[in-house]
Amino acid sequence: MAAYDIRVFGDPVLRQKAAEITVVDGRLVKLAEDMVQTMYDAPGLGLAAPQVGVQQRLFVYDLQDDEGAKVLVNPVISEGRGEWLYEEGCLSVPGLSWEIVRPKEIHLSGFDLDGNEVSVEADELMARLFQHEMDHLDGVLLLDHLDEERRKAAMRTLRERLMATPKPAVAAPAANRFGLTLP
Ligand code: NI
Repeated sequence: MAAYDIRVFGDPVLRQKAAEITVVDGRLVKLAEDMVQTMYDAPGLGLAAPQVGVQQRLFVYDLQDDEGAKVLVNPVISEGRGEWLYEEGCLSVPGLSWEIVRPKEIHLSGFDLDGNEVSVEADELMARLFQHEMDHLDGVLLLDHLDEERRKAAMRTLRERLMATPKPAVAAPAANRFGLTLP
C-alpha cells in the first residue's frame, strides 16, 4: 500500500462536491487501501477521498475499537437527533481544532466494497466522525461550522501560517497533524 499526500486548506479540491460512485472495481479497492494507509500514517480516525484529491463519494475510518478499518461508499446520513459538543480537528486543517455542536445520533446508510448495503445507527464519536467525513464529500470544512468570530481567528492563523511557509510548501511534521481525537 502506498500513502497519499493529504490535501490541506487552500486546495480547491476540498471545496468541490464529490461524485456518486457507480462502479466498484479494482481501482476503487486500491484507492481505499491507499487511503487507509494514509489515514494510519497521518494518523487520523477518518479520511475522505477528496482529502487525497479524488472526487468520489467514499471515506475510510477506524475508530480504534478492534473492528479495523472500514470503507463506506456513497454514504447517506439521515435522522439526526440530539446535540453533542465535541472538539474536532481535521487532517486538512492541521494543528487546529474547535469545539463544535452537531447531532449526537445519526443514521448512516451506504455500501461496502463488496456492494453490500450498510446501515449503521451511530452515536457520539462514531456519529461525529461520519458527519465530519460526509462534510468532506460535500466540500464542507470545519471552518464552515464556526461562528464569525472563531472563523475570523482561524483564517488569520491559516493566513499567517501560509505566509510563514517557504515555497514549495512543506508538510507539517507528523506530530502536528491530527484528525478527530479520542476524548
Ligand atoms: Ni477532515
